[in-house]
Amino acid sequence: MAEVIIVADKAAAGALVAEEIARLVRTTPDVVLGLATGSTPLPVYEALPALLDGVDVSRVRGFALDEYVGITPGHPESYREVIRREVIEPLGLDPARIRVPDGSLDGIEHAGEDYERAITAAGGVDLQILGIGTDGHIGFNEPGSSFGSLTRVKTLTEQTREDNARFFDSVDDVPRHCITQGLGTILRAKHLVLLAFGAGKARAVAAAVEGAVTASVPGSAIQLHPHVTVVADEAAAAELANADYYRYTFANKPAWQGI
Ligand code: GLP
Repeated sequence: MAEVIIVADKAAAGALVAEEIARLVRTTPDVVLGLATGSTPLPVYEALPALLDGVDVSRVRGFALDEYVGITPGHPESYREVIRREVIEPLGLDPARIRVPDGSLDGIEHAGEDYERAITAAGGVDLQILGIGTDGHIGFNEPGSSFGSLTRVKTLTEQTREDNARFFDSVDDVPRHCITQGLGTILRAKHLVLLAFGAGKARAVAAAVEGAVTASVPGSAIQLHPHVTVVADEAAAAELANADYYRYTFANKPAWQGI
């Protein structure tokens, strides 16, 4: 099962996950990070620069989960731009080593396969950061996505477009299509770290961690993975039936065991 760590707030979650990433970068300088966008991973990205101060990050590689299709290149809310702004620049990473799925219409038919090949050539993702949508999606794998799916073009649900409208001038500006790593792609990463904050995520977190494994809740795919860490604040953990057990487990975690 997933290890569930219930933390006081976003800053505590960010520090915990950033510490593990910094450890990986120190021990494996060409580590392959799986990068998520959205607001959830920001506390991790904010905590990282201080922990990586003086650490050689020039060989760190990264793959983003997803991108909007057909979004104007350079649009501030394209995930390519978000990754540049939130991750590449503050951490001083080599932009040539950080890839985002190519959402431009020219070549979109083979963009998914190209991305899969690149991840495989890099030896796979070592640590994949994940958020979760209110409808249980991870990456942009909306309900119904196959557990075997690979990087491909998907149609966003209206719910996701409304959720993401806050990043755009209006919901009409949110693209209808995206290119996203599949659930099968995500499940190949060596370690999945799913973060969730706020009451709006409580139902999705409980369904993903403790509910039935079903394509109707794409996040439930994490139950099929051998190494998953879920880091949630109290509000996002509020609907977990086994919260007391998770707290007990974490409080009694053997010192030799990392996350
Ligand atoms: C977005 C992204 C996901 C993200 C999720 C939650 O649509 N494609 O990668 O995890 O929805 O977003 P947020 O973290 O802003 O709540």
